[in-house]
Amino acid sequence: MQTMPLLEVRDLKTHFFLDEGTVRAVDGVSFDIRSGVVLGVVGESGCGKSVLARSIMRIVRPPGRTIEGRITYDRGMRRGAAGDFVDLAQMPIDGSEIRDIRGSEITMIFQEPMVSFSPVHTIGFQIIEGILQHETDISKDEARNRAVEILRRVGIPNPESRIDQYPFSLSGGMRQRCMIAMALASDPNLLIADEPTTALDVTTQAQILELMAELQREFGMAMMLITHNLGVVAQMAEEVIVMYLGKIVEWTDIDTLFDDPKHPYTAELLKSIPRLRREGQAERLTAIAGSVPSPYVRPSGCPFHPRCPQAVAGLCDVREPELVQVGERHVVSCLLYSDGASNGAAEMETE
Ligand SMILES: Nc1ncnc2c1ncn2[C@@H]1O[C@H](COP(=O)(O)OP(=O)(O)OP(=O)(O)O)[C@@H](O)[C@H]1O
Ligand SMILES: [Mg+2]
Repeated sequence: MQTMPLLEVRDLKTHFFLDEGTVRAVDGVSFDIRSGVVLGVVGESGCGKSVLARSIMRIVRPPGRTIEGRITYDRGMRRGAAGDFVDLAQMPIDGSEIRDIRGSEITMIFQEPMVSFSPVHTIGFQIIEGILQHETDISKDEARNRAVEILRRVGIPNPESRIDQYPFSLSGGMRQRCMIAMALASDPNLLIADEPTTALDVTTQAQILELMAELQREFGMAMMLITHNLGVVAQMAEEVIVMYLGKIVEWTDIDTLFDDPKHPYTAELLKSIPRLRREGQAERLTAIAGSVPSPYVRPSGCPFHPRCPQAVAGLCDVREPELVQVGERHVVSCLLYSDGASNGAAEMETE
């Protein structure tokens, strides 16, 4: 029997209730994150990647609310005794249990580190506070030593003095390294990284990604890596979920995603990345036809049908597809694969 995943998300819905209408930002999402595995999350802007991450952390605030679904998390894995399940979706957003988990067992790195750091405190103060908040049996000096060590590990030169600097006095790359240090100081089970490098220049991006890959292996933690960049996913992730308008359209391992994508949306996304030809020329970048529709007006049937090159009139604009299993660890939500197929998420669950 396959071991239970670290995190099991089922039928998760997080909506924003606005005067203009309801935004179904995350709309019935199911997937797993296995212990120690890097899961990539891709999809165009506005498809719900960040809201999904925030839903797992339970930091979505009104007018947004998680209204349905389960986020089963195995707290036992931390203590080496898997099987102590809690449902994060049932926890009050600022209750003590979620605060205990958030920032120690499950941590998050954001695109722009300045939003995560307080400008009025030193980097060290913030990392040390984080450590002390979750570990009561450790002295301030020990926490400071730990913070210095972790800053050294993420490549901050002279961490003994840098620890007393304020976030604004560091470069973007250094701030992001400090953000990673803060997220790792508690040795988390799961690190959620939401576009961790997009605010950086290309060289710094590559260095930070390399550092994250190294640390992920060293710490053995699971990682949910959100990115627009399929190249980054190819380099870092073992499994991938592809999102479109609040739904998962495909979930599979990285090789299958590139070699045998099933969903037309995934195929179009892959076409949109430039590939180097043998002679070294980049192929023309093809953008996906059309744009993501207004979040208030969801298309009928399959949400991708208005832009889908393979849409079948009278079917795709009418019926809503379900996730179906099309291979080992490969599920897809597309009517082209629906006939006679069984429910994908349920199959992956009982495998
Ligand atoms: N605080 C909010 N209030 C209202 N709507 C929101 C809020 N946050 C997100 N949304 C809406 O939820 C949907 C999903 O947004 P989300 O930020 O998760 O997209 P994303 O996939 O992370 O996009 P990007 O790649 O641009 O970061 C969008 O339609 C967005 O406008
Ligand atoms: Mg986002």
